[in-house]
Amino acid sequence: DREPPAPAKVRRPEYVPNRIADPNYVRIFDTTLRDGEQSPGASLTSKEKLDIARQLSKLGVDIIEAGFPAASKDDFEAVRMIAKEVGNAVDVDGYVPVICGLSRCNENDIRTAWEAVKYAKRPRIHTFIATSPIHMEYKLRKSKEQVIEIARNMVKFARSLGCDDVEFSPEDAGRSEREFLYQILGEVIKAGATTLNIPDTVGYTVPKEFGQLIADIKANTPGIENVIISTHCQNDLGLSTANTLAGACAGARQLEVTINGIGERAGNASLEEVVMTIKCCGERELGGLHTGINTRHISMTSTMVEEYTGLHVQPHKAIVGADGMLKHKGTYEIISPEDIGFERTNEAGIVLGKLSGRHALRRRLHELGYELEDEQLESVFWRFKAVAEQKKRVTDADLRALVSDEVFQP
Ligand code: KIV
Repeated sequence: DREPPAPAKVRRPEYVPNRIADPNYVRIFDTTLRDGEQSPGASLTSKEKLDIARQLSKLGVDIIEAGFPAASKDDFEAVRMIAKEVGNAVDVDGYVPVICGLSRCNENDIRTAWEAVKYAKRPRIHTFIATSPIHMEYKLRKSKEQVIEIARNMVKFARSLGCDDVEFSPEDAGRSEREFLYQILGEVIKAGATTLNIPDTVGYTVPKEFGQLIADIKANTPGIENVIISTHCQNDLGLSTANTLAGACAGARQLEVTINGIGERAGNASLEEVVMTIKCCGERELGGLHTGINTRHISMTSTMVEEYTGLHVQPHKAIVGADGMLKHKGTYEIISPEDIGFERTNEAGIVLGKLSGRHALRRRLHELGYELEDEQLESVFWRFKAVAEQKKRVTDADLRALVSDEVFQP
């Protein structure tokens, strides 16, 4: 009974690696399990990754980047497990998410990624190499010509393994020279890339500039009409959602995001912000863009990622933050809590369950008039977890009983 209300039917265009039948359909590529997991302290067990992947599939993400298989044996196993299970769980509409593995541009990484994702019905290899002058000179120590050669050969190599869905990223595209980008992207298209992802790796661009970058790539790269253009925006200046949307307006039809915006440094563009902006403003301001996301699973997915990674969502975070949503009713509320799957209890509160974290518990207790010290909260939290395992829904009455057991009267 933790299932959100029945979703509105989501219509998805048929999946072909490099083609979208509906020109306004935007694919959502979730990289919580790869780039998100790179957040300091966010490491996840294989079992937790599988749970999150199942939840991302329910949420309706089009592509799940399940990990970086060559990075470690654990990562390899987690990606393989996800490819086998989630990558084959076809839903009633015949939809199954693409399962993607990241690899650097070398044969060992690419082969390892393929060995992990090949079990999925729709496997993808995502390979990347840096293209900015600073990265090529100091990290790769390679010339432009050498970088093009490697990229071309490695995309061909990925295709030669039998993978018909290959994504290529010119890392640090935000600081790369335009003419060089058009050239390398044109070459990897000829070599068989089906998606070109444009990362703003260091979160350096502003929306107008990033939108223009996507528009210029679209206008100047030979063969671009045969592939999907994608965005991958880091949040160092707090602009990742705005940059991602600017990219979509300029023609990107795949957006790379993470749940709660987790990721290295200031994180990545957040799925919930990007998707809810497209839902709220897609028709009005974004030329009719839409996604296949079942937004009613957003809240639960956010809570699961918060709980498993231990990375807490700030209370005023847009969309999924406690204050961002709950306190603004009526004239101040542009999204209803039910749209993202928050369920209200009879007492107009929020249903807590086994995936709820300390933050959600503290918030509800505060609303009920209880202010607990950290130590007290910890004690109530563990007993709350035990109740949640039994009951699935922990009501306000249960919470009052738990608190009064501890003699913390309001
Ligand atoms: O930020 C970045 O450049 C990346 C690429 C691998 C897509 O994560």
